[in-house]
Amino acid sequence: MNRIKKIGIMTGGGDCPGLNAAIRAVVRSAYNQHIEVLGFRFGWKGVIEKDYETLDLSVVSGILPRGGTFLGSSRTNPLGNKKWSSQIKENMAKLELDALIVTGGDGTLRATFELYEKEKLPLVAIPKTIDNDLMGTDQTFGFDTAVSIATEAIDRIHTTAESHQRVMIIEVMGRDTGWIATYAGIAGGADFILIPEVKITLKEIVEKLKERHKRGKTFSIIVVAEGANLDGIVKGEKGSITKFLAEKIEKETGYETRVTILGHVQRGGTPTPFDRILATRFGIYATQLVLGKKFGQMVALHGTDIVSVPLKEAVGKLKKCDLNLYDIAKTFFG
Ligand code: F6P
Repeated sequence: MNRIKKIGIMTGGGDCPGLNAAIRAVVRSAYNQHIEVLGFRFGWKGVIEKDYETLDLSVVSGILPRGGTFLGSSRTNPLGNKKWSSQIKENMAKLELDALIVTGGDGTLRATFELYEKEKLPLVAIPKTIDNDLMGTDQTFGFDTAVSIATEAIDRIHTTAESHQRVMIIEVMGRDTGWIATYAGIAGGADFILIPEVKITLKEIVEKLKERHKRGKTFSIIVVAEGANLDGIVKGEKGSITKFLAEKIEKETGYETRVTILGHVQRGGTPTPFDRILATRFGIYATQLVLGKKFGQMVALHGTDIVSVPLKEAVGKLKKCDLNLYDIAKTFFG
């Protein structure tokens, strides 16, 4: 069996805190095995255009606590583009890469799976996304940081909500799942949480708010996942669902209502210790998979263990928010 001598790494899709920790772990563990590492810039784009730099220990020194990805990222997706797929294959051969470690979310890893299946490329995947919506792993890195930022925001909004006796609506990210909303909502003591997985009517929300006020509460906190499902109205149809909800609540209850859309603040900045550790463990395990030539696999967290799963299990289907957890959150609604 030929020894692994040279590998590549890239980060694709939306960035998230922990990416630099993962790159550092790959470079460090590869260095210990005398493996050269090339870092491709801006995800698949860099592999297609042969835009890369050699990553030695000095390049990755000091990047552990930094958010984002120093390699840059993009949503360039070779899926469905025959020319790009063959360019990736050709460039990997020209650069004599024995393997490529792909760090990505759903979109990036779908392409990784296709390239592994159809082009037989030696690929290993590391899952990342603040949305935590990837199958095959209990958690992705980036999620814990996003939850902690959203929770801090809810805590801060709580005090001003109380002072002004307002309904405060906080919109969080999560694309088509309600993981961030449910976690941050529980942690921040939300009085109502709207997620894409559960259909809720305006009537139910208004009733709960009125009940709350009857109990003597003069303010309320509502956490809304960006993809939330309100009366069957989904994002896009009415612009921001959050603003639409605020207008309706004010009209139906007479309670003054304000909206905060957290947006990309949830994706920026320094990763939590949990995400740094998870990303580091993923990076080291991914290098081990490469050493064992276990391609077409994704590293994953199962319970407290780092394992690997076939990429096939991770792509094609979203990991929806755990409804048992949402039930726990519901105990505190109203
Ligand atoms: O997938 C991560 C994520 O931040 C989602 O939560 C959000 O819907 C989307 O990316 C935003 O994408 P962009 O940064 O391209 O606007």
